Amino acid sequence: MKPIQVGILGIGTVGSGVFNVLQRNQEEIKRRAGRGIEVTMVSRRNVAEAKTLVGDRAQVVADARAIIANPDIDIVVELIGGYTLAKELVLEAIAAGKHVVTANKALLAVHGTEIFAAAHAKGVMVAFEAAVAGGIPIIKALREGLTANSIQWVAGIINGTTNFILSEMRDKGLDFAVVLKEAQRLGYAEADPTFDIEGVDAAHKLTLMSAIAFGIPVQFDKAYVEGITQLGSQDIKYAEQLGYRIKLLGITKRTPQGVELRVHPSLVPAKRLIANVEGAMNAVVVQGDAVGTTLYYGKGAGSEPTASAVIADLVDITRLHTADPTNRVPHLAFQPDAMSDLQVLPMGDVVTSYYLRLRVADQAGVLATVTGLLAAADISIDAVLQREADEIGGEGATQTDVIILTHDCTESRMNAALAQMQALPTVLAPITRIRKEELA
Ligand code: HSE
Repeated sequence: MKPIQVGILGIGTVGSGVFNVLQRNQEEIKRRAGRGIEVTMVSRRNVAEAKTLVGDRAQVVADARAIIANPDIDIVVELIGGYTLAKELVLEAIAAGKHVVTANKALLAVHGTEIFAAAHAKGVMVAFEAAVAGGIPIIKALREGLTANSIQWVAGIINGTTNFILSEMRDKGLDFAVVLKEAQRLGYAEADPTFDIEGVDAAHKLTLMSAIAFGIPVQFDKAYVEGITQLGSQDIKYAEQLGYRIKLLGITKRTPQGVELRVHPSLVPAKRLIANVEGAMNAVVVQGDAVGTTLYYGKGAGSEPTASAVIADLVDITRLHTADPTNRVPHLAFQPDAMSDLQVLPMGDVVTSYYLRLRVADQAGVLATVTGLLAAADISIDAVLQREADEIGGEGATQTDVIILTHDCTESRMNAALAQMQALPTVLAPITRIRKEELA
């Protein structure tokens, strides 16, 4: 049978990985897919640069639309990124009856509802394994491998840049800004790292996992997003003394009130496997009612790890494109007419436990006043750590750090208690609040 023909929009690091892995493993991939898979066309604005990546092995064009217009192309792989041109091209490819594979988490997290509806109406597939956690087959696991389960929660380290930064901060006791510079020098962080360090990239990926886990529409606009820019190395150190690591987690949880959808730094017990995921690696924990806890670990970015995910989608489409569209795996795991109307909870209603660090005057009664405010708010304390003043400010220091771990309470109740504590004259600096997840 004639090989299925693929066109790559935006050949670059990932695209050349796809090209190379497909060539290297073509025999095995063909034995799996039942048919050869060939990249016959690629696009990049700078054709000369594209030619350095693919040589004469594929037709190189400057205009991505030439690929969509080619009737011989069966599958379009979108690797351009961003929301604007990528969205236009994906919708045009769908309208032209092409199947689409994309690594573009931002596009799907924001415009997924429109794109999946267009694909459903046209009877084509939009596959996006590479959009979440790079080479880890987490979309496949959530959508198919765990399909028997009522999924209860998903928690992941789904941004390698921030995990690298946090690992370095912990290992070397350095501050965020210093490590960020080093990460940029080493190529772990982009020149403009905003999406990574502010948690936006993780929230895009979490939004997609949440939709698949619970059968809800993609709703990036409802996600709570907090990055790592405010984290101090002293909090990483105190957390360690209390038996925790700090990770940037994406957490989505089903509760009777609604779905939690949140990205923020979290304390995680150091004994959990996910707490020990270091450097730029990714990991996702999924809790299902039947299977229990499962963990997926691997590279979340890079040329061939991401290509591994893109090619898995190409194989899936090659196997399924002749099937009746109603018999294919639904884009978001649940049949489009059977989506849930479970609402995403506002952050104020989320229940979790907390790490608080207060810089206080080293005076009698300060701790009692602070704990009294927590007691009045019905927030139960789990542990307290107080540093000796001279450890913080040197000999004769008059202020110190008090660290409090709380039991669960709603975010809104904690916010109210924090406002009261912050107003105390003996609380000398903005209080640090980091959420805590036991992931038990
Ligand atoms: N910038 C991402 C990360 C990889 O650092 O994990 C692509 O999503």
